[in-house]
Amino acid sequence: MSEIASSTENLETENPQADLASGGATVDTVTEVPVAIVGAGPAGLMLAHRLHRAGIDTVAIDLRTREEISTTQRAGIIESDAAMDLVELGVSDRILRDGYEHEGVDLRFAGESHRIDFKDLVDASVWLYPQTDVFIDLADARDRDGGKVYYGITDPEVRDIESSAPTVRFTADDGTRHEIRARYVVGSDGSRSMCRHLIPEGERKQYFREYPFAWFGFLTEAPMSAPELVYAHSEHGFALISQRTESLQRMYFQCDPTENVDAWSDERIWETMQARVAGADGFTLKEGPVTEKSVLIFRSFVQQPMRWGNLVLAGDAAHTVPPTGARGLNLALHDVKILAEVLERALGSEGEAALADYEPRALNRVWRAQNFSYWMTQMLHTPPSASPFDIKRQEGELDNVVSTRAGRTYLAEQYTGWPSHG
Ligand code: PHB
Repeated sequence: MSEIASSTENLETENPQADLASGGATVDTVTEVPVAIVGAGPAGLMLAHRLHRAGIDTVAIDLRTREEISTTQRAGIIESDAAMDLVELGVSDRILRDGYEHEGVDLRFAGESHRIDFKDLVDASVWLYPQTDVFIDLADARDRDGGKVYYGITDPEVRDIESSAPTVRFTADDGTRHEIRARYVVGSDGSRSMCRHLIPEGERKQYFREYPFAWFGFLTEAPMSAPELVYAHSEHGFALISQRTESLQRMYFQCDPTENVDAWSDERIWETMQARVAGADGFTLKEGPVTEKSVLIFRSFVQQPMRWGNLVLAGDAAHTVPPTGARGLNLALHDVKILAEVLERALGSEGEAALADYEPRALNRVWRAQNFSYWMTQMLHTPPSASPFDIKRQEGELDNVVSTRAGRTYLAEQYTGWPSHG
Protein backbone atom coordinates (compact mmCIF):
# COMPACT_ATOMS: atom_id res chain seq x y z
CA MET A 1 0.00 0.00 0.00
CA SER A 2 1.43 3.38 -0.94
CA GLU A 3 1.77 6.33 1.37
CA ILE A 4 -1.10 8.08 -0.37
CA ALA A 5 -3.38 5.08 -0.06
CA SER A 6 -2.86 4.83 3.67
CA SER A 7 -3.66 8.48 4.15
CA THR A 8 -7.15 9.72 4.71
CA GLU A 9 -5.86 13.27 4.97
CA ASN A 10 -6.66 15.71 2.25
CA LEU A 11 -3.26 17.30 1.67
CA GLU A 12 -3.47 20.42 -0.39
CA THR A 13 -0.38 22.35 -1.39
CA GLU A 14 -0.77 25.89 -2.62
CA ASN A 15 1.34 27.17 -5.54
CA PRO A 16 3.65 24.21 -5.94
CA GLN A 17 6.54 24.22 -8.37
CA ALA A 18 6.02 23.38 -11.99
CA ASP A 19 5.19 19.72 -12.16
CA LEU A 20 8.03 17.69 -13.61
CA ALA A 21 6.50 14.27 -13.73
CA SER A 22 3.67 15.04 -16.12
CA GLY A 23 4.89 17.31 -18.81
CA GLY A 24 6.08 20.37 -16.95
CA ALA A 25 2.85 22.41 -16.99
CA THR A 26 2.31 24.48 -13.86
CA VAL A 27 -0.63 23.86 -11.59
CA ASP A 28 -1.94 26.09 -8.82
CA THR A 29 -2.62 23.32 -6.33
CA VAL A 30 -1.71 19.68 -5.85
CA THR A 31 -4.00 17.59 -3.65
CA GLU A 32 -3.23 14.09 -2.43
CA VAL A 33 -6.31 12.07 -1.74
CA PRO A 34 -7.05 8.32 -1.72
CA VAL A 35 -9.82 8.46 -4.33
CA ALA A 36 -10.38 10.95 -7.18
CA ILE A 37 -13.88 10.89 -8.67
CA VAL A 38 -14.43 12.04 -12.24
CA GLY A 39 -18.14 12.82 -12.58
CA ALA A 40 -20.14 14.40 -9.75
CA GLY A 41 -23.65 13.25 -10.61
CA PRO A 42 -25.60 11.02 -8.22
CA ALA A 43 -23.23 8.03 -8.63
CA GLY A 44 -20.05 10.05 -8.01
CA LEU A 45 -21.48 11.98 -5.08
CA MET A 46 -23.06 8.93 -3.44
CA LEU A 47 -19.67 7.22 -3.66
CA ALA A 48 -18.03 10.29 -2.11
CA HIS A 49 -20.63 10.23 0.67
CA ARG A 50 -20.16 6.52 1.40
CA LEU A 51 -16.35 6.87 1.41
CA HIS A 52 -16.55 9.92 3.66
CA ARG A 53 -18.48 7.83 6.18
CA ALA A 54 -15.66 5.28 6.05
CA GLY A 55 -13.13 8.04 6.78
CA ILE A 56 -11.82 8.17 3.21
CA ASP A 57 -11.41 11.57 1.55
CA THR A 58 -12.24 12.20 -2.08
CA VAL A 59 -12.13 15.04 -4.58
CA ALA A 60 -14.85 14.99 -7.25
CA ILE A 61 -14.93 16.97 -10.48
CA ASP A 62 -17.56 17.52 -13.17
CA LEU A 63 -17.67 19.33 -16.49
CA ARG A 64 -21.22 20.47 -15.79
CA THR A 65 -22.10 23.28 -13.41
CA ARG A 66 -24.03 22.45 -10.26
CA GLU A 67 -27.00 24.34 -11.71
CA GLU A 68 -26.89 22.28 -14.92
CA ILE A 69 -26.89 18.96 -13.08
CA SER A 70 -29.69 19.98 -10.74
CA THR A 71 -31.97 21.16 -13.53
CA THR A 72 -31.50 18.43 -16.16
CA GLN A 73 -34.67 16.32 -16.08
CA ARG A 74 -34.03 12.61 -15.50
CA ALA A 75 -36.05 9.62 -14.40
CA GLY A 76 -37.79 9.60 -11.08
CA ILE A 77 -38.07 6.09 -9.67
CA ILE A 78 -35.83 4.79 -6.88
CA GLU A 79 -35.84 1.31 -5.39
CA SER A 80 -36.85 1.38 -1.75
CA ASP A 81 -33.46 0.04 -0.54
CA ALA A 82 -31.69 2.92 -2.31
CA ALA A 83 -34.27 5.38 -0.96
CA MET A 84 -33.71 4.13 2.59
CA ASP A 85 -29.93 4.35 2.11
CA LEU A 86 -30.33 8.10 1.46
CA VAL A 87 -32.09 8.44 4.80
CA GLU A 88 -30.14 5.93 6.91
CA LEU A 89 -26.70 6.93 5.64
CA GLY A 90 -27.46 10.53 6.57
CA VAL A 91 -27.67 12.10 3.09
CA SER A 92 -31.14 13.57 3.71
CA ASP A 93 -34.59 12.51 4.87
CA ARG A 94 -36.28 14.87 2.39
CA ILE A 95 -37.39 11.89 0.29
CA LEU A 96 -39.72 10.88 3.14
CA ARG A 97 -41.46 14.26 2.93
CA ASP A 98 -41.29 15.15 -0.76
CA GLY A 99 -41.19 11.66 -2.32
CA TYR A 100 -44.12 9.31 -2.93
CA GLU A 101 -43.99 5.62 -2.11
CA HIS A 102 -45.59 3.60 -4.90
CA GLU A 103 -46.74 0.06 -4.24
CA GLY A 104 -47.52 -0.74 -7.85
CA VAL A 105 -47.69 0.38 -11.49
CA ASP A 106 -50.34 0.10 -14.16
CA LEU A 107 -49.75 -1.62 -17.48
CA ARG A 108 -52.28 -0.29 -19.96
CA PHE A 109 -53.02 -1.93 -23.31
CA ALA A 110 -55.98 -2.54 -25.60
CA GLY A 111 -57.63 0.37 -23.78
CA GLU A 112 -57.60 -1.20 -20.29
CA SER A 113 -55.38 -0.77 -17.22
CA HIS A 114 -53.96 -3.67 -15.21
CA ARG A 115 -52.33 -3.01 -11.88
CA ILE A 116 -49.14 -4.82 -10.91
CA ASP A 117 -49.33 -4.83 -7.11
CA PHE A 118 -45.71 -4.88 -5.87
CA LYS A 119 -46.69 -5.07 -2.21
CA ASP A 120 -48.89 -8.09 -2.65
CA LEU A 121 -46.65 -9.88 -5.17
CA VAL A 122 -43.15 -9.35 -3.78
CA ASP A 123 -43.65 -7.26 -0.64
CA ALA A 124 -41.75 -4.35 -2.15
CA SER A 125 -42.29 -0.77 -3.27
CA VAL A 126 -40.45 2.00 -5.12
CA TRP A 127 -40.19 5.74 -4.48
CA LEU A 128 -41.10 8.47 -6.90
CA TYR A 129 -38.36 11.04 -6.22
CA PRO A 130 -36.69 12.78 -9.16
CA GLN A 131 -33.02 12.20 -9.84
CA THR A 132 -32.51 15.97 -9.71
CA ASP A 133 -33.60 15.89 -6.06
CA VAL A 134 -31.28 12.97 -5.31
CA PHE A 135 -28.46 15.09 -6.75
CA ILE A 136 -29.47 18.21 -4.77
CA ASP A 137 -29.52 16.20 -1.53
CA LEU A 138 -26.13 14.63 -2.24
CA ALA A 139 -24.54 17.95 -3.26
CA ASP A 140 -25.84 19.57 -0.05
CA ALA A 141 -24.47 16.65 1.97
CA ARG A 142 -21.02 17.20 0.41
CA ASP A 143 -21.16 20.89 1.41
CA ARG A 144 -22.29 20.00 4.92
CA ASP A 145 -19.56 17.37 5.37
CA GLY A 146 -16.80 19.54 3.89
CA GLY A 147 -16.36 17.33 0.80
CA LYS A 148 -14.45 18.81 -2.10
CA VAL A 149 -16.38 19.00 -5.38
CA TYR A 150 -15.40 21.13 -8.38
CA TYR A 151 -18.29 21.76 -10.79
CA GLY A 152 -17.97 23.42 -14.20
CA ILE A 153 -14.37 22.33 -14.75
CA THR A 154 -12.66 22.19 -18.14
CA ASP A 155 -9.73 20.30 -19.70
CA PRO A 156 -9.84 17.19 -17.51
CA GLU A 157 -6.90 14.84 -17.97
CA VAL A 158 -6.51 11.49 -16.24
CA ARG A 159 -3.02 9.98 -16.36
CA ASP A 160 -1.07 6.95 -15.24
CA ILE A 161 -4.03 4.73 -14.39
CA GLU A 162 -1.81 1.68 -14.72
CA SER A 163 0.53 2.99 -12.01
CA SER A 164 -0.15 3.16 -8.27
CA ALA A 165 -0.11 6.97 -8.47
CA PRO A 166 -2.66 8.08 -11.08
CA THR A 167 -3.32 11.80 -11.43
CA VAL A 168 -6.27 13.93 -12.47
CA ARG A 169 -5.67 17.46 -13.73
CA PHE A 170 -8.25 20.08 -14.61
CA THR A 171 -9.01 23.78 -14.84
CA ALA A 172 -11.49 25.00 -12.24
CA ASP A 173 -14.31 27.41 -13.15
CA ASP A 174 -12.18 30.35 -11.93
CA GLY A 175 -9.41 29.47 -14.39
CA THR A 176 -6.99 27.96 -11.83
CA ARG A 177 -5.24 24.66 -12.64
CA HIS A 178 -5.30 21.75 -10.22
CA GLU A 179 -3.77 18.33 -9.86
CA ILE A 180 -5.16 15.49 -7.77
CA ARG A 181 -2.78 12.68 -6.90
CA ALA A 182 -4.83 9.66 -5.98
CA ARG A 183 -4.39 5.96 -5.32
CA TYR A 184 -7.55 5.11 -7.26
CA VAL A 185 -9.58 7.02 -9.85
CA VAL A 186 -13.31 6.38 -10.32
CA GLY A 187 -14.94 7.28 -13.65
CA SER A 188 -18.57 8.06 -12.89
CA ASP A 189 -18.79 10.54 -15.75
CA GLY A 190 -22.04 9.41 -17.31
CA SER A 191 -23.11 8.12 -20.68
CA ARG A 192 -20.68 10.41 -22.55
CA SER A 193 -17.84 9.18 -20.36
CA MET A 194 -14.33 10.28 -21.11
CA CYS A 195 -12.93 7.79 -18.58
CA ARG A 196 -14.26 4.72 -20.36
CA HIS A 197 -11.98 5.57 -23.33
CA LEU A 198 -8.92 5.35 -21.07
CA ILE A 199 -9.22 1.58 -21.09
CA PRO A 200 -7.03 0.55 -24.05
CA GLU A 201 -9.07 -0.01 -27.18
CA GLY A 202 -7.76 -3.52 -27.72
CA GLU A 203 -8.73 -4.49 -24.18
CA ARG A 204 -12.29 -3.21 -24.01
CA LYS A 205 -15.45 -4.61 -25.45
CA GLN A 206 -18.52 -2.48 -26.04
CA TYR A 207 -21.92 -4.12 -26.30
CA PHE A 208 -24.74 -1.97 -27.56
CA ARG A 209 -28.12 -1.82 -29.18
CA GLU A 210 -29.88 1.17 -30.67
CA TYR A 211 -33.64 1.60 -31.00
CA PRO A 212 -35.63 3.08 -33.89
CA PHE A 213 -37.58 5.36 -31.53
CA ALA A 214 -37.01 7.86 -28.73
CA TRP A 215 -39.05 9.48 -25.95
CA PHE A 216 -40.59 12.92 -26.09
CA GLY A 217 -40.53 13.98 -22.42
CA PHE A 218 -42.38 16.94 -20.98
CA LEU A 219 -43.37 18.60 -17.73
CA THR A 220 -46.86 19.97 -17.33
CA GLU A 221 -48.55 22.12 -14.72
CA ALA A 222 -51.56 19.91 -14.16
CA PRO A 223 -53.04 17.77 -11.41
CA MET A 224 -52.13 14.07 -11.24
CA SER A 225 -53.92 11.92 -13.82
CA ALA A 226 -53.20 8.71 -11.90
CA PRO A 227 -51.85 7.95 -8.41
CA GLU A 228 -49.12 5.62 -9.75
CA LEU A 229 -47.16 5.29 -13.00
CA VAL A 230 -49.03 4.13 -16.10
CA TYR A 231 -47.01 2.40 -18.85
CA ALA A 232 -49.29 2.44 -21.90
CA HIS A 233 -49.01 0.35 -25.08
CA SER A 234 -51.14 1.40 -28.05
CA GLU A 235 -51.24 1.00 -31.78
CA HIS A 236 -50.17 4.67 -31.96
CA GLY A 237 -47.08 4.02 -29.82
CA PHE A 238 -45.99 4.00 -26.19
CA ALA A 239 -46.85 6.60 -23.51
CA LEU A 240 -45.80 6.90 -19.86
CA ILE A 241 -47.69 8.85 -17.23
CA SER A 242 -45.45 9.78 -14.32
CA GLN A 243 -45.74 12.43 -11.63
CA ARG A 244 -43.66 14.99 -9.80
CA THR A 245 -45.95 16.80 -7.31
CA GLU A 246 -49.68 17.42 -6.83
CA SER A 247 -49.46 20.19 -9.42
CA LEU A 248 -46.55 19.21 -11.70
CA GLN A 249 -46.53 16.06 -13.84
CA ARG A 250 -43.92 14.28 -15.96
CA MET A 251 -45.01 12.40 -19.07
CA TYR A 252 -43.44 10.80 -22.11
CA PHE A 253 -44.54 9.50 -25.47
CA GLN A 254 -42.69 7.46 -28.06
CA CYS A 255 -41.44 9.58 -30.98
CA ASP A 256 -38.96 9.50 -33.83
CA PRO A 257 -35.33 10.01 -32.68
CA THR A 258 -35.04 13.04 -35.01
CA GLU A 259 -38.20 14.72 -33.66
CA ASN A 260 -37.99 18.50 -33.22
CA VAL A 261 -39.65 19.67 -29.98
CA ASP A 262 -40.49 23.07 -31.47
CA ALA A 263 -42.87 21.37 -33.89
CA TRP A 264 -45.02 20.32 -30.93
CA SER A 265 -47.62 22.74 -29.62
CA ASP A 266 -49.31 21.96 -26.30
CA GLU A 267 -52.44 21.06 -28.24
CA ARG A 268 -50.63 18.54 -30.43
CA ILE A 269 -48.88 17.01 -27.40
CA TRP A 270 -52.18 16.47 -25.54
CA GLU A 271 -53.93 15.10 -28.59
CA THR A 272 -51.13 12.55 -29.02
CA MET A 273 -51.12 11.60 -25.34
CA GLN A 274 -54.90 11.25 -25.09
CA ALA A 275 -55.00 9.00 -28.18
CA ARG A 276 -52.39 6.70 -26.66
CA VAL A 277 -54.24 6.18 -23.37
CA ALA A 278 -57.82 6.18 -24.71
CA GLY A 279 -59.99 3.16 -23.97
CA ALA A 280 -63.43 1.83 -23.20
CA ASP A 281 -62.94 2.65 -19.50
CA GLY A 282 -62.95 6.37 -20.43
CA PHE A 283 -59.50 7.11 -18.90
CA THR A 284 -58.34 10.61 -19.88
CA LEU A 285 -55.40 12.74 -18.83
CA LYS A 286 -55.76 15.99 -16.92
CA GLU A 287 -54.25 18.64 -19.16
CA GLY A 288 -52.27 21.76 -18.34
CA PRO A 289 -49.62 24.01 -19.87
CA VAL A 290 -46.42 22.25 -20.97
CA THR A 291 -43.46 23.92 -19.27
CA GLU A 292 -40.50 21.88 -20.55
CA LYS A 293 -40.00 19.47 -23.43
CA SER A 294 -37.09 17.44 -24.77
CA VAL A 295 -36.32 14.34 -26.83
CA LEU A 296 -34.50 11.51 -25.06
CA ILE A 297 -32.50 9.23 -27.32
CA PHE A 298 -31.95 5.89 -25.71
CA ARG A 299 -29.89 2.80 -26.17
CA SER A 300 -28.61 -0.24 -24.34
CA PHE A 301 -24.86 -0.20 -23.71
CA VAL A 302 -22.27 -2.03 -21.61
CA GLN A 303 -18.51 -1.63 -21.65
CA GLN A 304 -16.33 -4.34 -20.19
CA PRO A 305 -14.05 -4.44 -18.33
CA MET A 306 -15.32 -1.96 -15.73
CA ARG A 307 -11.81 -1.66 -14.29
CA TRP A 308 -8.39 -1.10 -15.76
CA GLY A 309 -5.37 -0.75 -13.48
CA ASN A 310 -6.41 1.75 -10.85
CA LEU A 311 -9.31 3.20 -12.80
CA VAL A 312 -12.80 1.88 -12.03
CA LEU A 313 -15.98 2.79 -13.95
CA ALA A 314 -19.37 3.18 -12.27
CA GLY A 315 -22.91 3.96 -13.42
CA ASP A 316 -23.71 5.21 -16.92
CA ALA A 317 -20.00 5.46 -17.75
CA ALA A 318 -19.96 1.65 -17.87
CA HIS A 319 -23.54 0.89 -18.84
CA THR A 320 -26.68 2.68 -19.97
CA VAL A 321 -30.18 1.28 -20.24
CA PRO A 322 -33.29 2.58 -21.99
CA PRO A 323 -35.47 4.37 -19.41
CA THR A 324 -38.47 2.06 -19.75
CA GLY A 325 -37.70 0.00 -16.66
CA ALA A 326 -36.45 2.94 -14.54
CA ARG A 327 -33.22 1.02 -13.85
CA GLY A 328 -30.48 3.59 -14.73
CA LEU A 329 -30.08 5.50 -11.46
CA ASN A 330 -30.73 2.36 -9.43
CA LEU A 331 -27.95 0.48 -11.20
CA ALA A 332 -25.55 3.38 -10.69
CA LEU A 333 -26.35 3.52 -6.97
CA HIS A 334 -25.87 -0.23 -6.71
CA ASP A 335 -22.45 0.01 -8.43
CA VAL A 336 -21.21 2.57 -5.93
CA LYS A 337 -22.53 0.62 -2.98
CA ILE A 338 -20.28 -2.28 -3.98
CA LEU A 339 -17.48 0.02 -5.03
CA ALA A 340 -17.37 1.90 -1.72
CA GLU A 341 -16.98 -1.38 0.13
CA VAL A 342 -14.33 -2.67 -2.29
CA LEU A 343 -12.34 0.59 -2.22
CA GLU A 344 -12.40 0.62 1.57
CA ARG A 345 -10.87 -2.87 1.56
CA ALA A 346 -8.40 -1.91 -1.17
CA LEU A 347 -7.22 1.08 0.87
CA GLY A 348 -6.94 -1.11 3.96
CA SER A 349 -4.90 -4.21 4.52
CA GLU A 350 -6.12 -6.12 1.45
CA GLY A 351 -4.66 -3.69 -1.07
CA GLU A 352 -5.38 -3.53 -4.78
CA ALA A 353 -6.40 -7.22 -4.99
CA ALA A 354 -9.74 -6.29 -3.41
CA LEU A 355 -10.70 -4.39 -6.58
CA ALA A 356 -11.09 -7.69 -8.44
CA ASP A 357 -14.37 -8.25 -6.56
CA TYR A 358 -16.07 -5.21 -8.02
CA GLU A 359 -16.80 -6.11 -11.63
CA PRO A 360 -18.35 -9.57 -11.17
CA ARG A 361 -20.65 -8.32 -8.43
CA ALA A 362 -21.69 -5.20 -10.33
CA LEU A 363 -22.08 -6.96 -13.69
CA ASN A 364 -24.44 -9.58 -12.40
CA ARG A 365 -27.07 -6.91 -11.82
CA VAL A 366 -26.09 -4.91 -14.91
CA TRP A 367 -26.94 -7.70 -17.33
CA ARG A 368 -30.14 -8.62 -15.52
CA ALA A 369 -31.18 -4.96 -15.72
CA GLN A 370 -30.14 -4.80 -19.38
CA ASN A 371 -32.46 -7.69 -20.08
CA PHE A 372 -35.35 -6.20 -18.11
CA SER A 373 -35.02 -2.75 -19.71
CA TYR A 374 -34.81 -4.29 -23.18
CA TRP A 375 -37.78 -6.56 -22.48
CA MET A 376 -40.00 -3.73 -21.20
CA THR A 377 -38.94 -1.55 -24.16
CA GLN A 378 -39.69 -4.11 -26.86
CA MET A 379 -42.95 -5.16 -25.22
CA LEU A 380 -44.37 -1.64 -24.92
CA HIS A 381 -43.09 0.31 -27.96
CA THR A 382 -44.37 0.11 -31.51
CA PRO A 383 -41.45 -0.01 -33.95
CA PRO A 384 -42.02 2.13 -37.09
CA SER A 385 -42.14 -1.12 -39.09
CA ALA A 386 -44.74 -2.80 -36.83
CA SER A 387 -47.45 -4.72 -38.65
CA PRO A 388 -50.96 -5.33 -37.25
CA PHE A 389 -49.67 -8.83 -36.37
CA ASP A 390 -46.82 -7.33 -34.31
CA ILE A 391 -49.23 -5.11 -32.33
CA LYS A 392 -51.56 -8.03 -31.57
CA ARG A 393 -48.61 -10.23 -30.58
CA GLN A 394 -47.45 -7.53 -28.12
CA GLU A 395 -50.95 -7.44 -26.65
CA GLY A 396 -50.69 -11.23 -26.24
CA GLU A 397 -47.38 -10.83 -24.43
CA LEU A 398 -48.79 -8.13 -22.15
CA ASP A 399 -51.79 -10.35 -21.45
CA ASN A 400 -49.44 -13.17 -20.45
CA VAL A 401 -47.77 -10.81 -17.98
CA VAL A 402 -50.88 -9.37 -16.34
CA SER A 403 -53.17 -12.37 -16.30
CA THR A 404 -50.99 -14.82 -14.38
CA ARG A 405 -49.53 -14.35 -10.93
CA ALA A 406 -46.20 -15.67 -12.25
CA GLY A 407 -46.15 -13.01 -14.99
CA ARG A 408 -47.02 -10.17 -12.62
CA THR A 409 -44.50 -11.41 -10.05
CA TYR A 410 -41.75 -11.51 -12.68
CA LEU A 411 -42.37 -7.87 -13.58
CA ALA A 412 -42.71 -6.79 -9.93
CA GLU A 413 -39.43 -8.48 -8.93
CA GLN A 414 -37.47 -6.87 -11.74
CA TYR A 415 -39.02 -3.40 -11.37
CA THR A 416 -38.45 -3.15 -7.62
CA GLY A 417 -34.84 -4.41 -7.84
CA TRP A 418 -32.97 -7.50 -6.80
CA PRO A 419 -31.16 -8.20 -3.57
CA SER A 420 -27.49 -7.25 -3.64
CA HIS A 421 -25.16 -10.16 -4.47
CA GLY A 422 -22.10 -11.25 -2.53
C1 PHB B 1 -39.93 9.59 -14.59
O1 PHB B 1 -40.70 9.83 -13.66
O2 PHB B 1 -39.30 10.48 -15.15
C2 PHB B 1 -39.76 8.18 -15.08
C3 PHB B 1 -40.40 7.16 -14.40
C4 PHB B 1 -40.28 5.84 -14.84
C5 PHB B 1 -39.53 5.57 -15.99
C6 PHB B 1 -38.88 6.59 -16.64
C7 PHB B 1 -39.01 7.90 -16.21
O3 PHB B 1 -39.45 4.28 -16.43
